[in-house]
This record gives sequence, C-alpha cells and structure tokens, in this order.
Amino acid sequence: MTANQSPFRSDLLDGKVALVTGGATGLGLQTCRVLGSHGARIALCSRKEANLQAALQVLRDDGIDAMYGICDVREFEAVADVVDSVVAHFGSLDILVNNAAGNFPALISDLSPNGFKAVVDIDLRGTFNVSKAAYERWMRDHGGAVVNITAATQYRGMAMQAHVVSAKAGIDALTRTCAIEWGPAGVRVNVVAPGGMAGTEGVQRITGGDDKFPANSNPLRRLGSTTEVAQTVLFLASDAASYITGAVVVVDGGSWLTGRAQF
Ligand code: COA
Repeated sequence: MTANQSPFRSDLLDGKVALVTGGATGLGLQTCRVLGSHGARIALCSRKEANLQAALQVLRDDGIDAMYGICDVREFEAVADVVDSVVAHFGSLDILVNNAAGNFPALISDLSPNGFKAVVDIDLRGTFNVSKAAYERWMRDHGGAVVNITAATQYRGMAMQAHVVSAKAGIDALTRTCAIEWGPAGVRVNVVAPGGMAGTEGVQRITGGDDKFPANSNPLRRLGSTTEVAQTVLFLASDAASYITGAVVVVDGGSWLTGRAQF
C-alpha cells in the first residue's frame, strides 16, 4: 500500500519514531509499511535476523527510514537494549506497537504447561517488558502512544486457543491499567483486536488457510487484510486519536459476534 492509496494524510506521522515488535513478517511488517508510508521512521525487532534483514529491504524499497534490533521479547534486558538503540539512532520513541506473538492450535489436553507458558510469556509478558522499557526510557518524560495487538477470541473463548485467549485477555487488562497509570505522563495505551487476516501465518495455523475460512463466519462475509488492521493501528497511534486511551478496537468484520468458536 502506498500513501496515495491511503484514506489518511501521508504526513500524519511526520517526525514520529515507531517501534514495532515482531515487525519482520505478517501484520507486523505491514504495520511498519503503513506507519512508515505516513511519515514515521521505523524500528522493528524480532528474534530472527534473516527475517529482519529481508523486512528492512522491503521498507527501504518503500523509501522508509528504518532500522532493526534483535531480541526475544521475553528477555527484558535484551528488550531494553533495543529500546536504547532506537532512541540513540533516531533520537526519540513516540509510538510502540506490541505485535510480537506466538500461536499454535492445541486442545488443553494436548497443551503442556510449558506450551501454555511459552505463549503467555511471548504475548503477555513480552508486551509488559517492551512497554515498561519504552515508558521508563523515553515515554515517561516525552509522552507517546502504545498500541497492543491482541485478538477477539478471548471475548467468548475459542477451542484450541486456551494459551492464546488467556494471554490476550491479560493484555487487554494490562492495557487499561497502563492507560490509567501513564495517562498523566501523556502516554496513551490502546488495543487493536484483529480477526482473521488473509494470507497470514495466523490464519494458516488456526483455520488451515484462507480457503478454509467460511464466508459466513462474519457479517462482512470475508477475511480482513493486514492493511485494514494496520490502518487502525495508524489511527490510534496518531494525533487523530489524541483523546482515546484504554480502548479496544475490534477489527474483525464482526466475527466475534457471530463466528464459530470451534474448528
Ligand atoms: N502443539 C502443542 N504444543 C506445542 C506446539 C504445538 N503445535 N508447538 C509448541 N508447543 C509446545 C512445545 O512442545 C513446548 O512445550 P514442552 O516443553 O512441554 O514440549 C512449548 O510449546 C515451547 O515450545 P518451543 O518450540 O520450545 O518454544 P519457543 O519459545 O521456541 O516457540 C512458539 C514459541 C511456541 C510460539 C512456537 O510455536 C513458534 O515459534 N511459532 C512460530 C511463530 C508464531 O507462532 N507466530 C505467530 C503466528 S500467529
């Protein structure tokens, strides 16, 4: 997506610096492209350097000023080092998108305690780690906007997703609490809760692929796109959302209202 195809002004994030965790692939990469094509300088992080290098090339081909850091969001010190390197390189950190996540389908009877822990650690504890580092090392003194990516499956529960729905519900609650504690410092904290997005690893893992997603799963009768979700992140990260904090915006075509919770 180029800026001139966007419903938003191309200078919406001029002068801003954004860090996107899990930014090398899928929704994370598309979020980098959308924020970057609206003026933000982009930092992305993930565990795998090969993916980061490929993503950096995509962003540079888009004309976006970008850098990356390597870290596992489960390790606070590594995360803090990445936050420090972003501030050192770009001079600020205005936007944080907590997108890094782990997922696999497993019934509770097939889910080991360690499998449950792995996903809660990546999603929930990872969101805590990066948010805490960004707040304490920059946003507490300069303000900012945090957007946490969750899901909508935690509102009703979903078979084979006990680990994921537990983590996502925790992030929703953490978001509201960060919003309360950090609002006085000018830091807004919100959630984007996506449903299935066409062509993503998430849809592949959970439903078996785009063609397995029943058209009647939601009122809009289709999968979403990563661009539609990333544009919601863009809105919440921008000054257009200057009075919004502690909110959850569900971007799932209404799936959680009518869709199946069982595959
Ligand atoms: N079913 C059941 N348990 C599974 C599993 C599956 N499909 N995949 C992993 N696990 C369990 C492992 O068995 C292990 O538990 P154990 O020690 O009791 O055997 C535990 O999860 C941790 O697995 P491991 O691979 O060592 O952890 P990791 O931290 O390297 O992996 C995951 C992280 C679990 C998220 C892994 O699935 C992953 O890397 N996924 C790719 C990225 C991804 O999920 N992207 C999100 C797309 S929406």
